[in-house]
Amino acid sequence: MLTAEDKKLIQQVWGKLGGAEEDVGAETLWRMFCSYPPTKTYFPHFDLAQGSDQIRGHGKKVVAALGTAIKNLDNLSQALSELSNLHAYNLRVDPVNFKFLAQCLQVVLATRLGKEYTPEVHSAVDKFMSAVASVLAEKYR
Ligand code: HEM
Repeated sequence: MLTAEDKKLIQQVWGKLGGAEEDVGAETLWRMFCSYPPTKTYFPHFDLAQGSDQIRGHGKKVVAALGTAIKNLDNLSQALSELSNLHAYNLRVDPVNFKFLAQCLQVVLATRLGKEYTPEVHSAVDKFMSAVASVLAEKYR
């Protein structure tokens, strides 16, 4: 459950990315593909070289979706409903992979934010990404 303080911290963190969304998305995906190679099997149609146009383009989409989620923290199920359908019915992404993406995003944020990435921010982002993952996986049941 996200507290009011968690929500504030998540919104602040996102505000600090200002303009770097595409980089953050691309770095997150690149880390995921390197650290958890089986995740690459969902992207056989992509050029998976570091910084490829497809990784950058997709990274931007993922970060934009998280931005939408952040604007709808009290209404995540509805805000992410289409994406939930896509990942469950069309893409059939095994939900375990959502944790891998979340983990990689945390590392990217930590390396960018340095000292500003406090344990409280870490915890808030962790709760947020768990909430997003459970919405993206809820159609599997
Ligand atoms: C597509 C978001 C996790 C695999 C997408 C799209 C978005 C998105 C916004 C584009 C939808 C569109 O074009 O209409 C997210 C978010 C995630 C997440 C917010 C978790 C926080 C994952 C994970 C995997 C995955 C963990 C697999 C390891 C895919 C694939 C596509 C896709 C294969 C289609 C790519 C293409 O062909 O263009 N996702 N995703 N997603 N996602 Fe996810």
